[in-house]
Amino acid sequence: MKKLFILIITVFLISCQEKPIVVPLLIYNMGDNYMSDFENRIQELNGTRVIYETYDCQNSQIIQNEYIEQLMKDNYPLLIINPVDRLSVYAIINKAIETNTKIIFINREPLKSDMQLDSDLYYIGADAKQSAELQAEIVMELFGNNPNQLNTFDKNDDGIIQAFILKGEQGHQDAEARTQYVIETLLDNDFEVDVLDITIANFDMLTAVLAMDQHIEKYGNQFEVVLANNDAMAIGAIESLINHEYFLDSNEDGIIDRDLEQWVPVIGIDGLDIAIEMIQNGYLYGTVLNDSQAMVEAIDALTVSLLINNSLNGFDYQITDGQYIWIDYQKLIFE
Ligand code: BGC
Repeated sequence: MKKLFILIITVFLISCQEKPIVVPLLIYNMGDNYMSDFENRIQELNGTRVIYETYDCQNSQIIQNEYIEQLMKDNYPLLIINPVDRLSVYAIINKAIETNTKIIFINREPLKSDMQLDSDLYYIGADAKQSAELQAEIVMELFGNNPNQLNTFDKNDDGIIQAFILKGEQGHQDAEARTQYVIETLLDNDFEVDVLDITIANFDMLTAVLAMDQHIEKYGNQFEVVLANNDAMAIGAIESLINHEYFLDSNEDGIIDRDLEQWVPVIGIDGLDIAIEMIQNGYLYGTVLNDSQAMVEAIDALTVSLLINNSLNGFDYQITDGQYIWIDYQKLIFE
């Protein structure tokens, strides 16, 4: 009898334990280096309170819409969405309003006019303009910080910085702003810049290898710096530059000794682990940390506030305009 009583109590207690809440996480394309790293970090947060379930939208808005429709039918209270096409979230937002679903958008920022359609929408991301300004600061430091007297990185000694820009996906807020403001910041600080070419390489490593191959064929060594909108493209550019012997690891120790061996400055954005390794071994000159760890922590904190605490009191981040949580970028260079 006693045993039966204990069994009943145990079953009762187990059934009373709250199950973790499942939150769907829709990634625009898991083939993207930055987003797959981002997703890994979110998965590491899975615990007793929240389980994030990943959906790979394979770079197709149609696939993403189908997932969203089903998830809304299944009454998930919150979706985390990395839109495939950030300009076409209007329909998604209208469905969210109809079904009373909250959304946290990440990484690809919807239009402000769409965000304003409902107060249950949030965006967690980073201000692309800031990444461009920090990338420009790295360039200015590289060239000696004095626009009237560039150092020896001005190879042809013409007082002008010759640059290639590898641009991310057309229409992506980061690609547009990083390209525009890296140039503007240099000009605002009185540096003269001659952009030899801006090539759209879609944030993609392989596309960047091919783009850089073509630049080298067309311009030879006329360029003085390569500015990539992200690390994947910077790494692609370096691969091409290695193949064309712009980097020469003469003693074959796997490290470019910048005082003794041949190299050219390439600067990225993101701060992927592999990029940090390449900074440490002398291949990548610098990058700007697009702080995915800080972003996923903010996503988790917001999820807990919205679904478990049912209140934003105690949510420890500044919310701008009632909807935006901005995470700062940081410069990363080899010290
Ligand atoms: C990152 C890119 C990434 C893109 C995906 C950007 O913030 O810098 O590396 O490809 O987001 O949307």
